[in-house]
Amino acid sequence: MSSLNDKLAAALSSREKRHIRRRLPVSTSTVLPSADFTSNDYLSLATSLTLRSAFQSALSVAPQILGSGGSRLLVPAPAHVALESRLERFFDAEKALLFNSGFDANVAFFSAIPQPGDVVLYDEHIHASVHDGMTASRVDSSSLIKFPHNSVAALKRSLRKLLHERDDLRDGKASAFVAVESLYSMDGTFAPLQEIVHCVEEMLPRGNGYVIVDEAHATGIYGPQGRGMVAALGLEGRVLARLHTFGKALAGSGAAILTTELIRDYLLNYARPLIYTTTLTYANVIAVECAFDMLENGSAGVLALHLLDLSRYFLELLRPHLQSAPPELLCLPDNLSVDSPQDPSNTSFPPPTPIIPLLTPHPHSLAAHLASLPRPLFTKAITWPTVPVGASRVRVCLHAGHTRDDVKKLVEGVVDWVQAWLVREREEARHWLNMAEVEGVGVWMESKL
Ligand SMILES: Cc1ncc(COP(=O)(O)O)c(C=O)c1O
Repeated sequence: MSSLNDKLAAALSSREKRHIRRRLPVSTSTVLPSADFTSNDYLSLATSLTLRSAFQSALSVAPQILGSGGSRLLVPAPAHVALESRLERFFDAEKALLFNSGFDANVAFFSAIPQPGDVVLYDEHIHASVHDGMTASRVDSSSLIKFPHNSVAALKRSLRKLLHERDDLRDGKASAFVAVESLYSMDGTFAPLQEIVHCVEEMLPRGNGYVIVDEAHATGIYGPQGRGMVAALGLEGRVLARLHTFGKALAGSGAAILTTELIRDYLLNYARPLIYTTTLTYANVIAVECAFDMLENGSAGVLALHLLDLSRYFLELLRPHLQSAPPELLCLPDNLSVDSPQDPSNTSFPPPTPIIPLLTPHPHSLAAHLASLPRPLFTKAITWPTVPVGASRVRVCLHAGHTRDDVKKLVEGVVDWVQAWLVREREEARHWLNMAEVEGVGVWMESKL
């Protein structure tokens, strides 16, 4: 036991030394009002009085509100069935299947659906849950193939090589799955979905290429009534599965996979994260229904418009300042857009993003500075292993509940930090110069003795 403790403690202290030890965030409820630029509550529905009171009213009349009492395979769960039917209609999907979380849904899909002999190609920035699913699958590890972030050319090269090497893929006897996210949570980048779908269809004309799109961060914000990027681009019939999670913009928890009847049936039979767990509580399901009411009645759409306006505003304010900052101290990724039209259901690409990474080798310092302002601004410092070495950042997540003034304060905070850093660097340089001069004098005097 003590050897176990020693090993665990050593691993943690190694993380501590490398400044990558994870800790739970401390409560942000200080006496001062603060602004949350950290969570994925993009539409601020978690604090929406409208959603809260709709949820309370729905709870007061619902026949069941507490625990579901067991796995979906054990209990009839009528509210869950009704929500799935609604999701099928709303998203224009053949079938919907609920999961307790997006994590479970990805693990379920990727561990169960790809068969021995199949291939999974995945974007290098794909979520950890897809990795866990793939690793638990029966696909040989040599057939789990990463491609560079958003590179359709690299995806095409990998597919071409596979087709050259493997008769079964050429003949349609084996399948190739391509796993992408519509909006990536660390970079705020959008997958070029149309090009990816086109590439897969072109390279695998027998129909044995399948695209799976994780819409976790796009749900509720993009596409008609927040249906996501697949719907915004009219690709519903050309992807095998979509994942919509309820825990981010929809202020709930749980997730749904939209897919075919056969895949749904297979998951019900083989997906361990679905079979061996108690399904969502009724209260969960009711909360999700209320969030979907807000998508359908347009009130969430108003919030999404405001959110995307804030994204444009943030970049418009920050970009001019960054021109005078050394890019090795702070910069934005090249691919963030500001010029897109106002309508989030508009398909122009890429749309504005609520996730904005501020790339800096000193993310903890920047995040600490922002949190120390008279009105603390909470952002998230992200380092390896969550992002690659050399790609540390402070991630800003904008919310519909922010005002333009909040965003202005955030930009001012960032600019102040840059300036203070540069002043400190100049002072340090001057100090070392002075020291060198003094030492130089010392050496000169020694040589005279
Ligand atoms: C892209 C992506 N997929 C899936 C998940 C998992 O979703 P959930 O939080 O519902 O487990 C997340 C959450 O971090 C995510 O960012």
